[in-house]
Amino acid sequence: MLKCQKDLFSLEPHITYLNCAYKGPLLKKSEEKIFEAIENERNPFKLKAPNYFQISNEIRKEYSKIINSHQKEIAILPSTSYGFANVFNNIITHGGNAVTIENEFPSGHFALEKWCANNKVLLNIIKREKLKAKDWNQKIIDSINLETKVVLLSSIHWMNGTKFDLHKIGQKCKEVNAYFIVDGTQSVGASKINVKELNIDAMICAGYKWLFGPYSMALGYFSEKFHNGTPIEESWMNRTNAEDFSNLTDYDPNYKTMAGRYNVGETTNFLLSPIMLAGLQQINDWGISNIENYCSALAETLVNELKPIGILFEDEDYFKPHLFSLGLSEKVDLLKFKEKLESNNIYVSLRGKNIRVSINVFNNEKEIGSLVSLVKKSLNI
Ligand SMILES: Cc1ncc(COP(=O)(O)O)c(C=O)c1O
Repeated sequence: MLKCQKDLFSLEPHITYLNCAYKGPLLKKSEEKIFEAIENERNPFKLKAPNYFQISNEIRKEYSKIINSHQKEIAILPSTSYGFANVFNNIITHGGNAVTIENEFPSGHFALEKWCANNKVLLNIIKREKLKAKDWNQKIIDSINLETKVVLLSSIHWMNGTKFDLHKIGQKCKEVNAYFIVDGTQSVGASKINVKELNIDAMICAGYKWLFGPYSMALGYFSEKFHNGTPIEESWMNRTNAEDFSNLTDYDPNYKTMAGRYNVGETTNFLLSPIMLAGLQQINDWGISNIENYCSALAETLVNELKPIGILFEDEDYFKPHLFSLGLSEKVDLLKFKEKLESNNIYVSLRGKNIRVSINVFNNEKEIGSLVSLVKKSLNI
């Protein structure tokens, strides 16, 4: 079992940061890397042509271990919306339907909505209503039919962590020949995912939360279905001759293999890339199972304390220990509740009607205890 990893971060000691789903804190290792990167910027004469590609390749390699893909199936992107723009630029169809869920994160939702409108595809948004997570998942699966061209959803619900049966959904997509597109932002890095086993066709993931990367960097997995596609921009870096700086105006017509065509222009951001790489390396050093086990132990303490006093949680099979919502009574003013937590130095998020708590390896039992006491105090228990 991992020990608390707080020492690896510069989080202020009096703060209880239960909000990695909002933004991951910077690793101390990354702070060092930023200073090294600044030093490199001072003396660009040291920068050689291979340096324009090297760190991006290392990022791909580390990330591919986390999601179980080939490293060349990874593209480096500036945001999830950029990734989805590339995905939908390459799904060519007319008519039929697309399936997503209510309250999907806007980056995916808007991209899908626009694509549906442009291609006369009916957008089927699957509402939860009062359904249990199991039944909502079944409703999603049942809504996928032979007319379905695309299914897009997050790996877990970004507002409250509700788990989706990615395996069954991916299987159904395969059966009906629909594209399965996933936003992995809120679980990749904290929870095991195997894009091949799940039949995921493309997965986009912001880097600045569970991957401990910088803001303005995201990673995209593009399966074989996209390997001959058209990128939304034409970066010289994505051509097969890019490494040969003296012959760039030979205008190589060939894109790099696999996902190589989808990298954002100026792919290697010299200041941000070292943060991304350090985050991914750290995750691989910890190991995803260890991160999962660590978060599970803390979440279990919290649930065991709060369930008996009437706080509701998602059913066990659909509960994610790194991200969940506190099901408080409807009488509680959630904004005031969150502000009360903040005035006691406890940070969580309010998303829709969810007090979203997120746990990572820098949190500890004492912090969970502080949240539990404050919840009890606020509810006069
Ligand atoms: C599920 C999910 N996807 C994506 C993002 C970020 O999107 P973008 O990179 O387009 O800003 C977030 C941010 O909170 C998120 O929760």
